[in-house]
This record gives sequence, structure tokens and C-alpha cells, in this order.
Amino acid sequence: MLPEPDPTVCQSLTADLRDAGYTAEALRDAWGAAADDAIARGLRSPASRALSDRGDALAVLGRLLVLGMPQPAAAVDRALVRTGASGLVRLGLAAAEGGAVRPLAVVRPQSYADATGSGQWWVASDLDEAALGGPLPEDHVLGVGGASLTLAGLQLPTPAATGLDIGAGCGIQALRARAHVGHVVATDISPRALAFTRLNALLNGVDGIEVRRGSLFEPVAGGTFDRIVSNPPFVITPRAVGVPAYEYRDGGMVGDDLVAAFVTGVGAHLAPGGVAQLLGNWETRDGRAGLERVREWVEASPVPLDAWVVERERLDPLSYAELWVRDGGTLPGTPGFARLVDAWLDDFGARGVSEIGFGYLLLRRPADGAPTLSRYEILHTAFAGDNLGAHLAAALVAHDRLAGLDDAGLAASVLTVAPDVTEARHHLPGAEDPTVIELRQGGGFGRALSVDPGLAALVGACDGDLPVGALADAIAELLGVDAAALRADLLPRVRELVFTGFLALA
Ligand SMILES: C[S@@+](CC[C@H](N)C(=O)[O-])C[C@H]1O[C@@H](n2cnc3c(N)ncnc32)[C@H](O)[C@@H]1O
Repeated sequence: MLPEPDPTVCQSLTADLRDAGYTAEALRDAWGAAADDAIARGLRSPASRALSDRGDALAVLGRLLVLGMPQPAAAVDRALVRTGASGLVRLGLAAAEGGAVRPLAVVRPQSYADATGSGQWWVASDLDEAALGGPLPEDHVLGVGGASLTLAGLQLPTPAATGLDIGAGCGIQALRARAHVGHVVATDISPRALAFTRLNALLNGVDGIEVRRGSLFEPVAGGTFDRIVSNPPFVITPRAVGVPAYEYRDGGMVGDDLVAAFVTGVGAHLAPGGVAQLLGNWETRDGRAGLERVREWVEASPVPLDAWVVERERLDPLSYAELWVRDGGTLPGTPGFARLVDAWLDDFGARGVSEIGFGYLLLRRPADGAPTLSRYEILHTAFAGDNLGAHLAAALVAHDRLAGLDDAGLAASVLTVAPDVTEARHHLPGAEDPTVIELRQGGGFGRALSVDPGLAALVGACDGDLPVGALADAIAELLGVDAAALRADLLPRVRELVFTGFLALA
């Protein structure tokens, strides 16, 4: 168990890490990009070889706090002038063994950037696979991974008074939320995770995070929040003897029941206008599509909810099983691998599961109680955006404005085309008119869509000058078609383009 973190020692450590230039970029430069990527795959020797016998502070801290390698106490004292090896021991991050310091946790630098700026965190968590050199214990507290960063980037970057982070782990979502949210309650079933959350808040000088222990909504019974964020333990895991139940990824329920319980229960903890954002998995069972099942969970909420659910990926049961067996540190070719994969296949087979979807959920308790947003979509394409939060926030604002506009109101509105939109025209060789016109978005979800000449002309003419209706009428005349029919055809598609960020209401 980690001791209660001493704020003074945390402050010393922060100052020492800053003085040592202990940043993600500096470490990546020190051991090289390939070795840096290998650490994420659980392999630390390339990084340690690259550091060779370097004895400077960055190298000593990189070995100790990222790679999990014991270092001479004297070298640690020199690298952490204020904190010293004894300070790390007091924080529970290391143990003193003779003249050496043995790490008990990692403290990884994490750079971040969003629409409001960039910065650097130091995030302590349990020794990872690279440091342990083998499978993780079941009570492992996860550091910042790909899913953590995805959700951190999805968080709405708009101000709110109160927030809740369920399954806080090392506290990364709570830290991120505090950039925009006044006070955040961070919960977890793991007391060790909550100790890391407290430590990381202190290390990063972030106040206003209160930790509470308990499962799902138990620690906040009767409470409501403006923002709820969760990277929940959504990994579907067979409830069978001999299958490890990792606290950090498995909520102990059957199939996707934990995500269902979250979706159906979260509305009662949202203040009017409040938004919940989470990651999740959903099963396609007996031919019933995963996203349809998510819709049922949303509709089962006693508090009616707006919903925007994006499926980003879908795996067949075998690929899913292999992914998560490997993630737990049991590798193909080792004795347990086939047995564990079989357990997963038996489990999926028992429920008639043919596919497993992964994606993002945004649920909102409408301020006036009546939902207007119900969007369940499949977006399996790759896109560049790491920081989708601003895009989601803009889409919600656009949705609310559109909801208040009937077609006449929309026709009277002035629109501008977003600066990240490009148009590509594809012609059959020698043909004058294009066969395909494609609009593509550089930011947001990087959507691409084929449009007809009428819509392409409309989008091209949206320069913030004339209202949509006048533009549609002029295009009808140019194309020699009925103006009313063209408006009726274009306006619903204009709504979609405004919501998805191709067009903006002036
Ligand atoms: C995938 S980790 C997410 C950690 C961190 N929030 C992040 O984004 O990286 C899930 C966390 O949920 C916690 N957890 C597991 N079961 C839980 C439950 N029933 N209620 C609340 N938290 C739970 C685990 O201890 C773990 O810290």
C-alpha cells in the first residue's frame, strides 16, 4: 500500500524532476524513438542499452522511474537534489536496499496538448510490464495508456463546476478534467489507485480533486455532476477458474454488463445539462448489433438522455481474445495462451457473440428534460485528431442551435464552410463533369463524404454572405431544377454538415 503522500516531499520531487529536464521528449531523445516505442510494448532493454553508462540526472531517472531498474543511492541523491532517495522511499515509490534504490512504481512524464495549450504531467503508477519483465498482478494500477489518452482528448474543454471520474486509476482523467472543471470527485474500487491519484495530483500541483472509494456510483449516491468521465474496466472477461481478473480492466461482470450498467445508471448522476463521456465495449449477440444494444441501454435509463455513440473498431471473438490475453502478459507460444483464448471463445459462444465493438459514448441529460440527440454511428476509419474534445463541444452547440431551427429558419441562416474542409473531384478520363465529388474534413473525425453537384455548389458558396435558402434557389436556377424540391433535398444534408463541422452557423 502506498503511504499517504507528503505534500512537501511531492513538491520537492516536482522541483527536482523539472530541474532534471525530466520530460517525455527529453527521454525519447535520450534513448531514441524506436526504443521509446519498444517500452510501450513491454521491452525495456533497447532503452537501457541506448543510455549505456550515462550517469546524468535524466539517465538515472529514466532508468529508475520509467524502466524500473535499481540505481545506486548516491546517483539518485545527485539526480534528485531536494528529494533524495529517502524522499522516494517516504512516498512509497522506491525501497532502499543496501547502497541501491529499487523502484516500487514508475513515474512517467506525459506531455499533453489541447486547444487551450500544452503542458507536462508526471504520472506515478504501478511498475508496468517493461519494468516487471512479465505478467502484471491482478491489482495492478495502470499508468497512462492509449485508451487513457483517447478519453483525455475527448473531454469537453468547456468550463463546468463539478466533475466525477469513475475508475480513476492513476488519476489521469481527473487531472485532465481539472483544467476545465472546478471540483472533481475521483472514485475507484482500488485504494492503491486512489493513493496514486492523490500522489499525482500533488506531484502536478493540481488541487480540487477529492478521492472516494467504491464501485461505480456507490461513492456518489444521491449526487449529481456537470461532467462525468470514465475509462471503465470494460474489457469483457470470462468468469472462469484460472482466468486472471485484472482490476484495472475488468469490472467483474459478465460480458458487457458493466458498460450497460454504467450507461443506464449514469443519467441519475448528471445535473441538468450535464455530460458523461466514457469508453466501452459492446457485444453483437445472436445477430443483434452492438450499437443497437447500446441504444437499448440508453433507452432503459430512468433519466432520458441525449446520446452520441461512435463505434471506432470491431473485432471478431478470436482477435478480441488474443488481444486481451496478450495484454495481460501471456504471450502466444507460452503454455497458458491457448487455454485462455479457449476460455474467451467459450464465454463468447455461450452468449452467441459474433463481434465486439469498441468506441466512445457521450451522454447528456438535456437541460429541459427532453432528448433531441440520438446518434449511433460507425466510424472505423483512421483519423489524425487526438484532441476531439473541442470538436465534440462544437457539435453539441451546433446540434442545439439546429434543434431550434425549422427548415425556414435554417434557410434564413448564413453559413460558412470550415477552414479544414477540402473538395476533391474525380473525372472519368476525358469527361468534363466529375463522376465523384468528395468533401473531406482535416480535423474532427476526419470525415469524408461523396456529394452531388447541388450540395457541392452550396458548400462552395457558403462564405458567410448569403443565407442558405437564397444560395439553394440560385443553384436550382443554374442546374435547371425545381427550387422547392432542391431546398427540401439539401436542407437535411446541410443539417448533417453543420453538426459534423463541415459548415458553421454564422
Ligand atoms: C481502465 S482503468 C482506467 C484508469 C484511468 N482512469 C485511465 O483513464 O487510464 C479502470 C479503473 O477502474 C477501476 N475499477 C474497476 N472496477 C471498478 C468498479 N466496479 N467501480 C469503480 N472503479 C472500478 C480499476 O481499479 C481501474 O483503476
